[in-house]
Amino acid sequence: MIDTPHTAEETRPARKRARSALRNALVLGATAALAAAGTLTALTGTASAASTLATAAAEKGRYFGTAVAANRLGESDYVATLNREFDSITAENEMKWDALEPSRNSFNFATADRIVNHAQSRGMKVRGHTLVWHSQLPSWVSGLGSAAEVRSAMNNHINRVMGQYKGKIHSWDVVNEAFEDGSSGARRNSVFQQRLGNGYIEEAFRTARAADPNAKLCYNDYNTDNWNHAKTQAVYNMVRDFKARGVPIDCVGFQAHFNSGNPVPSNYHTTLQNFADLGVDVQLTELDIAGSGSSQAEQYRGVVQACLAVSRCTGITVWGVTDKYSWRSSDTPLLFDGNYNKKPAYDAVLAALGGTGGGTGGGTGGTGGTDGGTGGGGDASCTVTYEQTDRWGDRFNGRVTVKAGSRSISTWSVTVTVAPPQKISATWNGTPSWDSSGNVMTMRPNGNGTLSAGSSTSFGFTVMANGNWTAPRLGNCTAS
Ligand code: G3I
Repeated sequence: MIDTPHTAEETRPARKRARSALRNALVLGATAALAAAGTLTALTGTASAASTLATAAAEKGRYFGTAVAANRLGESDYVATLNREFDSITAENEMKWDALEPSRNSFNFATADRIVNHAQSRGMKVRGHTLVWHSQLPSWVSGLGSAAEVRSAMNNHINRVMGQYKGKIHSWDVVNEAFEDGSSGARRNSVFQQRLGNGYIEEAFRTARAADPNAKLCYNDYNTDNWNHAKTQAVYNMVRDFKARGVPIDCVGFQAHFNSGNPVPSNYHTTLQNFADLGVDVQLTELDIAGSGSSQAEQYRGVVQACLAVSRCTGITVWGVTDKYSWRSSDTPLLFDGNYNKKPAYDAVLAALGGTGGGTGGGTGGTGGTDGGTGGGGDASCTVTYEQTDRWGDRFNGRVTVKAGSRSISTWSVTVTVAPPQKISATWNGTPSWDSSGNVMTMRPNGNGTLSAGSSTSFGFTVMANGNWTAPRLGNCTAS
């Protein structure tokens, strides 16, 4: 389980989905009427009915991307799914060194250009992957005789590739997978490490900054998800050192390839937050999770929630559109099955992002049985109490406890209003939505909101104080 925001919303029962659809229809109807009357702007940000990964993520201020293979861009279902659901693209292989510079100083950009052009024509972002990596490296690089030649080749490659795509890439994976697995925390023994020593990584970042000053420069790696792992600590120490010495680094990419041998760690949020606290963005860059059904869905949900809980987690990229073209397709690790049906994992991700309307195909898991009779006399009611649970130099955590009245309730909601310039930067154990000011959060349960008479649940949040330490104001608890 992930250490912070555990929203365990189950796949919604059909009745709930129908109600939600009705609610959305009413909102849209009202929006249309207001638009006709010329008063639409007042509703912007409140009529939340995002029904795709990209639009739901955008409402949370994030991008939602996928890896793309250029040779699939002729397949209509692939392209339709890509265009509908994603707003950022990473070339799965086409921007790697062997693809772009197969022989020394001879560059071939045609295939990568197709991907970039597709993204640009659809208003999508592009992540650049990757400039300096030991793998998919043409043999001529390893065959270079001297450190000077390797240095020259590395910097030339960075300059030419970043120059080609200058202004078109929002984040570059400047250096990829430069650390060993296992307990050593050592640098990987790549040709760059062998010939240039530890300094090659920062040299690559300095060259990259000069080549495209507007691109975010990321270090990208895998197996860096568990805070306690030596590799995670080694990368963290490098980034901390870079920040302390002014080496230009803007972001850390967490590839996030998970399976049973490498599960989503319980301290994932801690890892992301600790890196973010160094002053870099964090991005989930190659997310995929082996498995199926509700188990896979819950892991995806936890990962998305961990990202949302970190304000500097700026986006998520899944490593492919459909299971059938995944680099490990037998693990069925993606959000769409081989027929482009949305999987339970898709529904979980969309729900975690606050979107609505998933579930067009694939199994859906249990329904949670939230709509049964509630029994007991009296009206559905609840009360709320607040306490501050932690405080640091710049922020505090609050916990709100929701308690059912004298009869059981099937759902509840409560507003939490912070005083500007306070900002809520993270939430857990609830599904938040926001008013247009961003100061009023309406919290609802994750999925099953049932509380028996007199029982309680709680949700939490982090408030960035920005100099104002006033306690948040709770609205009335409403229940049904
Ligand atoms: O295109 C050729 C094809 O012409 C040939 O017939 C075929 C024979 O094997 O190979 C094809 O190339 C393959 C290429 O994927 C395109 O499908 C390569 O062999 C294969 O090695 C390559 O695998 C890629 C892998 O990186 C290589 O390291 C995967 O697609 C790609 O998903 C994977 O992506 C990496 C990230 O870049 C970095 N992080 C890990 C991630 C997963 O391994």
